[in-house]
Amino acid sequence: MEIKTLKNYKELSSTVADIVEYTLTLPEPKLILPTGSTPLGLYKELVNRQLDWSTTTTYNLDEYVDNTIQNQSYRYFMMENLFKHINMDDDNIYFSGDTAVWPDLSYGTEVDLCLLGIGGNGHIAFNEPGSSFESETRMVDLTEETIKDNSRFFPSINDVPTQAVTMGLKPIMSSKKIILMANGKHKKDILEQAMYGDITENIPASVLQTHTNMETFYCD
Ligand code: GLP
Repeated sequence: MEIKTLKNYKELSSTVADIVEYTLTLPEPKLILPTGSTPLGLYKELVNRQLDWSTTTTYNLDEYVDNTIQNQSYRYFMMENLFKHINMDDDNIYFSGDTAVWPDLSYGTEVDLCLLGIGGNGHIAFNEPGSSFESETRMVDLTEETIKDNSRFFPSINDVPTQAVTMGLKPIMSSKKIILMANGKHKKDILEQAMYGDITENIPASVLQTHTNMETFYCD
């Protein structure tokens, strides 16, 4: 598994934007999308390119449970940074937090492209260390490390929700193509462990080594 190191964050964002742009030319494309700070440049670039999203369906990876800070929901993040700027049909936007769509997010969805970031402890979506590689979409407890990492987006650490709904590792792995993005030196060590180390449920992202159509892009 190769980690492709790009010049800078701009190049990381535009490289992944090229792959998304190609995917949008497929018939009725289906994409899984992440939140976090890493995809922000990508979403900006995609908005600037004014692409046609009219036949696209998207599934978001995860959402907090019982979040009281309204503008920190992942739904809000996606609306603000992507959906309100593109011509997506609202009916084709799915969020993991909507329990009604869990079955869709667990079984048989033919996803063309899944985009991922990586958490400091090797989580993908909110599949924390110890998550089964066979896990389906479900509600999970967040680890202390993740709560601490994500507290930078909240007024205080006490405002960070302790639970989330996450797409499982199994539906993520059933995507036809997966791109993992990591931005910053602080991600390098966990990224190398995930891509070059043992395949272990202690580092959920390590399961990606077993995918046959997967690329990893990094910049520091
Ligand atoms: C959160 C999200 C993940 C994301 C991770 C990394 O925990 N649930 O999907 O990959 O943060 O975020 P960042 O890109 O801000 O480092």
